[in-house]
Amino acid sequence: MFSNRFRTLFVATLLAATTQVEAQFAQAPLPYATDALVPSIDKMTMEIHYGKHHKAYVDNLNKALAGKPEEKMSPDELMGKITKETAPAVRNNGGGHWNHTFFWSIMGPAKGGAPKGALAEAIAKDFGSLDEFKKKFKEASTGRFGSGWAWLIVKDKKLMVTSTPNQDNPLMPVADVQGAPVLGLDVWEHAYYLNYQNKRPDYVDAFWNVVNWDKAAEHYAAAMK
Ligand SMILES: [Fe+2]
Repeated sequence: MFSNRFRTLFVATLLAATTQVEAQFAQAPLPYATDALVPSIDKMTMEIHYGKHHKAYVDNLNKALAGKPEEKMSPDELMGKITKETAPAVRNNGGGHWNHTFFWSIMGPAKGGAPKGALAEAIAKDFGSLDEFKKKFKEASTGRFGSGWAWLIVKDKKLMVTSTPNQDNPLMPVADVQGAPVLGLDVWEHAYYLNYQNKRPDYVDAFWNVVNWDKAAEHYAAAMK
């Protein structure tokens, strides 16, 4: 009796450990504390957004791809394989994982301000001015009905603003406009509702206080190579 119970416990522990080791997609640590973006993004929103929503995308992606060749792909590679035929669990959770990892990286404490260097010049050239770019980005953010994302992308060596529904992104072949993301803003209600309720435009305005332009410049430089 004891021996059987011990064996069951041993096997369960081994299975759990194996699952953990084999899980290809993993959530990187948040690059700052959950209260680092206050007051633009509140602590509880960050805790739930990173700790529950993003975690669920990663867990569900690993479940959906367990034992399939795609689990060996990098998140970038996987995005390039998303077609209309892709299982919704892979498209939604794969996109959810990629998008949130990107989103955390392009924000930070003591950020905001204005872009510098080549990215600043490209914004001036392709949009007319930083204010004009922000206006277009806000239109894309508030104009996205329901849940989705607004993006600043490089397409054919030019900057463009676009948006995607649900957890799609511009790296996916299913996107209306494909390109390399430079900035992305999560406009799902889970990203802002606790602090901003129905006022999505206020959340978009606050995003500019925490945007990490240095990181955006890195994405821009990589896309222009
Ligand atoms: Fe989100």
